[in-house]
Amino acid sequence: MGEEQNPLEVLSLEQLRQRRSAKWRAFGDDVLPLWVAEMDVPLAPPVSDALHRMVELGDTGYPMPAAYAESLQRFAAQQWGWEPDITQIRTVPDVMRGVVEALKIVTQLADTVIVNSPVYPPFFNYPVNSGLRVVEAPLGEDGRLDFEMLEESFNLRTLGGTAVYLLCNPHNPTGVVHTREELQKVAALAEDYGVRVVADEIHAPIVYGEAEFVPYVTVDPKGFSLVSASKAFNLAGLKAGLLVSGTESAAELSELPKESAHGASHAGVLAQTAALNEGSAWLHALTQGLEANRRLLGDLLAEHAPEVTWRQPEATYLAWLDFSAYGFDDDEPTPGAESPVHGPAKFLLKEAKVALTAGHPFGTGGERHARLNFATSPEILTQAVERIGQALARR
Ligand SMILES: Cc1ncc(COP(=O)(O)O)c(C=O)c1O
Repeated sequence: MGEEQNPLEVLSLEQLRQRRSAKWRAFGDDVLPLWVAEMDVPLAPPVSDALHRMVELGDTGYPMPAAYAESLQRFAAQQWGWEPDITQIRTVPDVMRGVVEALKIVTQLADTVIVNSPVYPPFFNYPVNSGLRVVEAPLGEDGRLDFEMLEESFNLRTLGGTAVYLLCNPHNPTGVVHTREELQKVAALAEDYGVRVVADEIHAPIVYGEAEFVPYVTVDPKGFSLVSASKAFNLAGLKAGLLVSGTESAAELSELPKESAHGASHAGVLAQTAALNEGSAWLHALTQGLEANRRLLGDLLAEHAPEVTWRQPEATYLAWLDFSAYGFDDDEPTPGAESPVHGPAKFLLKEAKVALTAGHPFGTGGERHARLNFATSPEILTQAVERIGQALARR
């Protein structure tokens, strides 16, 4: 495969149905799966080469993570004009385990974690399972950070203990990229209220032309960020993530338990290092393909499901669709709920044979919504939206 080829146009539906990952196995063969954040692409050639070498050599021991941290230094310098010092970076098992480790550093048990709903459901579950309380500061009507709401929630910390703010940038599910000004405002507010900030930046490598990703720790030296190549290179099954500190929080990284770094898999470290070091050309082709799919999705929705409302994401391959106009008004949001099927997603799975991610578990703002993953071929995307349109027309 040439690096300039659109990776979204390589695998056929028949090939994809042979996959054994969650996206393709959770539902029957009559369902088009556009739900969990896996992509229908082959591996980037440098990643595939690294994994082949690993298998040929039987190189399946414990990870040596230094190269992974160095690959992030290079990637961040090239993509975002920022080179974190190596002392600011630690390997963690994956991004969500890394979030938990960062929260452990900056909170005490029974402290509060503030999240911007609607948000990636594990932002509720993981802190709660670590004994923390989660408070929502919902996004504004315009889909962006609502600073009044944020300040109000930062104030809540006076009810007991301290608070930490778990920021998602780019934001899952809306694909909003927080601007430098917004992040500076967050940092100033956090400083005023003594709130520490942990930013999940797993979607940062895929940002479209009109937006600029700004690494949080570049505006807040006390912050922490989590990054990995997992979403942008489809490596969710090859576990490894990176926790990055700001310049003033680097010393706190020594509080990480030793076992934390051991949770990353050697295969994950090898694959993600290859992706960050050598995957830029492939990532560029992918981002162009996704940008074309984003346009295509807009055209398809306008034609087949014109009452669905959405904002084009500035990043990610996720589209946050509002089905309110079609009368889905009965279910309440259930932050962090396990069951993936409520509201429009439940209806569309049954009636359109298309699997989307239900909005309910994303918390307040998730009602009447579903999330569509457009990291698939234009053909599958077209078929799926046609089916959605036909099912909605029968409602
Ligand atoms: C915002 C966000 N964070 C974390 C993850 C999961 O990352 P990991 O598998 O490395 O824990 C995802 C997966 O989709 C995500 O969207």
